[in-house]
Amino acid sequence: MEDYEERKSWSVKNENIHEELSELMEITEEEKNLLADLKDVAEEQADAMTDDFYGRLMAHENTAEYFEGLDTDNHDFVAPWFVDLFGGTYDAEYVADRLEIGHVHVRIGLPVRYPLSMIDVIMEHGEEVVEESPEPEKAMSAFQKLLSLDIAIFNQAYEDRQLEHLAELVGGERLARRLLTGGASK
Ligand code: HEM
Repeated sequence: MEDYEERKSWSVKNENIHEELSELMEITEEEKNLLADLKDVAEEQADAMTDDFYGRLMAHENTAEYFEGLDTDNHDFVAPWFVDLFGGTYDAEYVADRLEIGHVHVRIGLPVRYPLSMIDVIMEHGEEVVEESPEPEKAMSAFQKLLSLDIAIFNQAYEDRQLEHLAELVGGERLARRLLTGGASK
């Protein structure tokens, strides 16, 4: 077996990714404030966003089947999630809440490609909101960072679960990580 180097990033887990990623992405106070100032606009935009979001998911058999038996009118999940992108507070609690949302999708057996293929809808409606900012360019860049953070969180939720279960199965995270790289057989 190849010598397998331990990576510092492996010790960053759960909501602790918040601190690491805000530093990496350099999310500034000014950017947070620009987004928070748009919260009311985001609330106004949320209905149109929700219509497009569920419209797409319901138009396709493979995605619509996840909503069978659910009353989507009473499961208006995505609107508050969208508005919170403009909440101005992106702390460890925000990340933990969003990781949990990711885990809900892991639990229903939803392939990660589906949530990721909805990002353009969120982006489109986010752009509408950002245009109302007195500083649209800066607000756009802030929104892109926050959406990127959310994509990272969604993926992290999936990866955490895979790693956790594989580590349980093989008796350790280090071996699980090695297996996931495909490097264990070398
Ligand atoms: C970026 C994409 C998405 C976001 C932001 C999102 C957001 C959410 C949120 C906030 C919840 C509520 C979680 C909770 O109970 O606390 C939820 C639940 C749910 N989502 Fe998503 N979602 C996304 C993509 C999808 C896709 C692509 C599907 C299906 C094809 C889907 C199906 C569901 C279902 C079925 C539930 C209810 C689960 C249950 O209560 O059993 N979601 N979603």
